[in-house]
Amino acid sequence: MDLHEAGREVRRLRREIARHNQLYYQDATPEISDAEYDALDRRLRQLEAEFPECADAESPTLRVGSDTDSRFPSARHSHPMLSLQNSYEREDVEAFVQRVQKELGIDEIPFTVEPKMDGVAVALRYRDGQLEMGLTRGDGTHGDVITGNLLELEEIPAAVPKVAGLPSGFEIRGEAYLKLSRFQQLNEERQERGEEQLANPRNTTAGTLKTLDPAVVRSRGLSVFLFQLLPLETSAGVPFTDHRGELAALAQLGLPVNPFLRPATDVDGIFAALDDLESLRPQLDYQIDGAVIKVDPLEWQERLSATAKAPRWGLAYKFAAEESETRLRAITLQVGRTGVITPVAELDPVELAGSTISRATLHNWDELQRKDIRIGDRVVIAKGGDVIPKVLR
Ligand code: IVH
Repeated sequence: MDLHEAGREVRRLRREIARHNQLYYQDATPEISDAEYDALDRRLRQLEAEFPECADAESPTLRVGSDTDSRFPSARHSHPMLSLQNSYEREDVEAFVQRVQKELGIDEIPFTVEPKMDGVAVALRYRDGQLEMGLTRGDGTHGDVITGNLLELEEIPAAVPKVAGLPSGFEIRGEAYLKLSRFQQLNEERQERGEEQLANPRNTTAGTLKTLDPAVVRSRGLSVFLFQLLPLETSAGVPFTDHRGELAALAQLGLPVNPFLRPATDVDGIFAALDDLESLRPQLDYQIDGAVIKVDPLEWQERLSATAKAPRWGLAYKFAAEESETRLRAITLQVGRTGVITPVAELDPVELAGSTISRATLHNWDELQRKDIRIGDRVVIAKGGDVIPKVLR
């Protein structure tokens, strides 16, 4: 590929990624899976590395996607709200561990592994124990002020108890999400009322936090997990020295913290934790899209610092999607050995749990009617216990 061709491809990728950012962050109606999005991002990164002439500070590889919504007031973040570098392969994790070891000049690094919640990032600012402001990530520098909506989450307290050593002002960050059981319940209720089905828990969470009616937020029953505590005044200290202590402090404040946290000191240890988490995944009542691997000591996190887009002390490791969304092209009929006729969904090909899927079962007519699935609809497919994928909704 010559420079001219590369330039054209880079521009095309940037346009395409910008369009998908808009669909994901602003409209909460993504058209492609995270894995497909990351493939575009990786391709663009490769080209930008290979052809430095194509570099551009505005490139989506260097910027955080924005969920800014002009209907809400905006406020500046106390600390930038960044993204995480994604990875899919063992080699990516090996490279991360090596880079951290090299930059710190230390071989034995304590890491933690925890679930990566597939929800929406939120920031909660407390001063003298009172919730002062709640924000979305926005463009990473400024977020939308959605305090009233966030207070409708049962797990977000308007006031927190005093915890020894904490500064008077601090910001807590985490991820709002919708439990799978609650999502199902909401869709059953909507079905009974003849309302359109909600597409998936993440989009429902994003859409809910951006409604202008707090009563709607309350009725949805969102949940939250918190995983970061930052002092509002940069000079203020915190009474913990590592990420594990940070989570313990959050729990002391009465905030929900994900119970899964595994320590690891090397790549094998990290993969043992990743395997544990992946095997737990089917039992979880929420969607995760992978795990986050973090350098545990906060002092070392600070030393590693961050790029404009993501901290250098953390890495997201993505699991293969268990559910994927695609378009129903047609419905065909399959006649079984015993003469049973099964409706089959013909789909736009999509990645699911590591393979490309273009057909899925619709089980039978009753099911088809009950789910009100029609040609041209966007459908969510999953691999059940058996090999043949099915249309969930
Ligand atoms: S730590 C980037 N831990 O993933 C600052 N993030 O891709 C450090 N997320 O905006 C974030 N689960 O909202 C962290 N256990 C977890 C997470 C997590 C989900 C979200 C987070 C962040 C995004 C970055």
